[in-house]
Amino acid sequence: MTTLIAFESSADETSVAVVKDGKEVLSNAVATQINSHQRFGGIVPEVASRHHLEWITKTLDIAMDESGLQPEDIDGVAVTYGPGLVGSLLVGLMGAKTFAMAHNLPIIPVNHLAGHIAAANFNKPIEYPAIALMVSGGHTELVLMTEENSFEILGETYDDAAGESYDKVGRLMGLNYPAGKAIDELAAQGQVTIDFPQAMAHEAGYDFSFSGLKSAVINQVHNAEQRGEEINKADLAASFQAAVIKALIERTRRALTDFPVKSLVLAGGVAANSGLRAALTELIQEFPETGFIPVPKQYTGDNAAMIGAAGYWNYKDGIFADLDLNTHPGLDF
Ligand code: KG4
Ligand code: ZN
Repeated sequence: MTTLIAFESSADETSVAVVKDGKEVLSNAVATQINSHQRFGGIVPEVASRHHLEWITKTLDIAMDESGLQPEDIDGVAVTYGPGLVGSLLVGLMGAKTFAMAHNLPIIPVNHLAGHIAAANFNKPIEYPAIALMVSGGHTELVLMTEENSFEILGETYDDAAGESYDKVGRLMGLNYPAGKAIDELAAQGQVTIDFPQAMAHEAGYDFSFSGLKSAVINQVHNAEQRGEEINKADLAASFQAAVIKALIERTRRALTDFPVKSLVLAGGVAANSGLRAALTELIQEFPETGFIPVPKQYTGDNAAMIGAAGYWNYKDGIFADLDLNTHPGLDF
């Protein structure tokens, strides 16, 4: 039995969690600062760092309290060291190093993206080989895992990430940042009335592109404004969401066809999307040998429990860091 404490502070959530054997969440304290960034329409790095400083010890106290454990029950300290905002990452890293030094524990460096994927184990154990569709505010990737803790990028976005396109379209529609959830809810009330063009529809491979779709939505809105027409926001949301999902489904189908796997993992903030979850549940019917393992909704957004899950993989593989561990803002797989 291995119990890890985990620290996550890569963007706008400060989080500390205690996780047993990479799958049992004993506590997961998350402090979100979205309200402070909303009026700017995105994360302001300096504001984020200051919030992390304010919340890191509070979330640590809550996570330890709720776990019912003492520091001597902990076997290691997992921490996100990238990708993310350097000033934000530094705060979690300092918290983790301090805890590790005070209690003489090993430090386990964790890639935030691996964390998103590892959170699927909170649903059910990932079976390998697996393909993960990782869709967040900063990343959109199809990742092949031939075994646990091994990652090969099959495809990624050329431009905007899926979540980023939700947020940009949301801003255009006058919705608060981040807009993914609001567009998802609006889409459920609307009809697909606009057939947005598919980027790279005829290209082979597993890559994505979402900036053309964003421009198409902008044009649609501006043209309607020029004609003095009222745009139906629910229909616009439904049409945009249908186009995003179609792109994600087509590449995922292609990857599953070319690489027969036992599990399809859906991870990252956009994995909370109800339309996407439904579409993948349907797609997986075409692949009877493959099980669909979406990350449970409460763990799709940034949180430290997922870092504890991926940290467990590294712990088992003997991947540790010294106190001189630095941030790696541009880290990928
Ligand atoms: O993984 P995450 O919490 O942070 C990053 O590592 O980027 O992802 C945040 C992204 C935002 O762009 C947000 O709009 C999007 O996930 N998101 C959604 C939904 N909930 C959050 N996008 C679509 N549908 C949702 N229900
Ligand atoms: Zn994330």
